[in-house]
Amino acid sequence: MRNPILAALDVPTADEALRLVRQLAPVCGGFKVGSELFTAAGPGIVRQIRGQNAAVFLDLKFHDIPHTVARAVAAATRLGVQMLTVHAGGGRSMLQAAEQAARETAAQMGQPPPLVLGVTVLTSLDDEALGQIGCEPHAGRQVLRLAQLASQAGLRGLVCSPHEITELRQSLPSALQLVIPGIRPGTVAGDDQKRTLTPRAALARGANWLVIGRPICAAPNPRAAAEQILNDLASP
Ligand code: C5P
Repeated sequence: MRNPILAALDVPTADEALRLVRQLAPVCGGFKVGSELFTAAGPGIVRQIRGQNAAVFLDLKFHDIPHTVARAVAAATRLGVQMLTVHAGGGRSMLQAAEQAARETAAQMGQPPPLVLGVTVLTSLDDEALGQIGCEPHAGRQVLRLAQLASQAGLRGLVCSPHEITELRQSLPSALQLVIPGIRPGTVAGDDQKRTLTPRAALARGANWLVIGRPICAAPNPRAAAEQILNDLASP
């Protein structure tokens, strides 16, 4: 089985991130670099992680005019990342431009294109908050609408919450890769993630990749925490 764990490097410095990468590279499928680490440490941290031969998911959630997003996606592709995110709410033209930039830039480099993932509705937005910004005040329907738009625009993957997997699997092409945060191994007590699922349950519902941050990176022994999750996934 391919290792589905993407460890979220939600730390403020390159040193801390690289320490985690050294410990975790043998037991994780890749590393998520988000806004905090990228803003603090810059593209060099992505090059350093890639230099260790580990996969990188660059989670900067691009959302701008199509030309600007295409240029940002091309720059991320040249950095050698395997996955990156754009907001599906940026619209069809923006999504098409992002996918095209990933494919064209990768082809120029003789590499496979990174997976451009659409982010639908941030899980921090509830129905009331959606209404306030002029969207359909129903998160489930808004997620489905944006997921369909992203898929029709040619995106090959989405980020979604654990509780959206089943519905998206029913209504979208099965080849679509689903990347799922909000994962909590049964042994970890609650933090600010409310709607969580265990790694096993998320895969059983149809997740392809699991984004796991604090349960691994904030554990006393991150490597042991990741190994424990892998063992749970492998056990019958
Ligand atoms: O520490 P934890 O496992 O909650 O980290 C999850 C990661 O996934 C964080 O980097 C967080 O920003 C991201 N994320 C999330 N929920 C979403 C989208 C992204 O937790 N809906």
